[in-house]
Amino acid sequence: MDKFVVRGGNPLLGTIKVSGAKNSALPCMAAAILTEDEVILENIPQVRDIETERKLLASMGAEVELGYGRAQHRTHIRCAVLSDPVAKYEIVKTMRASSLVLGPLIARTGVARVAMPGGCAIGGRPIDLHIKGLEAMGATITQEHGYLEARTDRLKGAHIVFDKITVTGTEDLLMAATLAEGETLFENCAREPEVTDLAALLIAMGANIEGAGTSTIRVQGVAKLHGARHRINPDRIEAGTFLIAGAITGGDLNVDCCEPAHLSALIYKLEQCGVRIDVGTDHIRVRSGGDLKAADISTEEYPGFPTDMQAQYMALATQAEGTTIVTENIFENRFMHVQELNRMGANITVQGRTATVQGKTPLQSAAVMCSDLRASASLVLAALVADGETILDRVYHMDRGYERLEEKLRGVGAQIRRMGDVFGKK
Ligand code: UD1
Repeated sequence: MDKFVVRGGNPLLGTIKVSGAKNSALPCMAAAILTEDEVILENIPQVRDIETERKLLASMGAEVELGYGRAQHRTHIRCAVLSDPVAKYEIVKTMRASSLVLGPLIARTGVARVAMPGGCAIGGRPIDLHIKGLEAMGATITQEHGYLEARTDRLKGAHIVFDKITVTGTEDLLMAATLAEGETLFENCAREPEVTDLAALLIAMGANIEGAGTSTIRVQGVAKLHGARHRINPDRIEAGTFLIAGAITGGDLNVDCCEPAHLSALIYKLEQCGVRIDVGTDHIRVRSGGDLKAADISTEEYPGFPTDMQAQYMALATQAEGTTIVTENIFENRFMHVQELNRMGANITVQGRTATVQGKTPLQSAAVMCSDLRASASLVLAALVADGETILDRVYHMDRGYERLEEKLRGVGAQIRRMGDVFGKK
């Protein structure tokens, strides 16, 4: 298993580029299932979850070409024949977003077998709302041996009010509704930019969708969708992680190729912390003299403060003067980074969904363990200001969602390198 070795103390200076959004690319790749034509996606990030989804689609009979470098992070997907509409456990166990193939598979083929998902260990993470929605659209769903099996002659339009706001739930059912008979009206939808990105692709494929990006989405089903070419949005969570990297190290960093409008909640908080932010059209400059002030956060659905930035923000809070209250409203059990941050010298206590960070405490290097994708990013940020050399184990969590993180950070002055396991274990 690879490790990162990070020596703290350098302010990050220069320009760092943001990749395409993993959480947009995953549903967009699943959307290719809806048509027998070719779907071309650009700005695909080179991360492990994308490779997992490529394998998943290929195992169902799709032709998937994934090209990086000169091929400009492009993928060509053609689901001419879906000979095996099954999402196998061996492939999906590492990635919860695999449930995104459920809706498109049943809409296209009338049958789907999808293993119950794994992914980050951040709470129960059920998919009951996906199931309820598909049932309301006329699918029969059974669960056996860890697999969901869905069947229908053709999905029918329905009126669906989500009990709870769910991002992939909204995406999964939105894809299903594009090929359903008649109109589907969704209420209490997720408004995340990733939903809007997916809807843009679906519309380019011939879907009839109104209201994506708001809490009410209306879809008129069509008989068939066709191929399309689409460019994936920049990754707002990667961009946010870089903003915090600039702020925590007392650096001067230009975060390039991002969409500032998607980062408003984080920018607002960073400004409260005393960080200087200059917003351009597709870049954000972050500057800090290292004199940070505490500012509380409470995670919410978009456009509120993203749960996917909570762990990274907590690393910053350890370096802010005063007490920061961090409330996690989206997932239970999303404080696994706390223990590791405390091992590095942070003073954080957790009670239920609330963490209290007492700052500012100097951080020291330690051997730490990455527990999930965003927790790993939080530990890298802490290591960038820790005294000495921190060794982060299990960086495969990071590789699920951050493209060449160590190379990008090295390019702006961080001392970080990847090290293979000395015993060669995988
Ligand atoms: C997506 C993102 C993830 C992010 C999360 C919240 C992807 C691939 N992942 O995850 O990075 O952290 O949004 O912004 O886009 N819930 C149910 N029943 C369901 C579905 C969800 O109770 O059927 C609950 C969840 O347990 C959680 C909340 O709803 O408490 C929100 O989850 P959801 O928005 O579905 O997260 P994901 O789409 O899995």
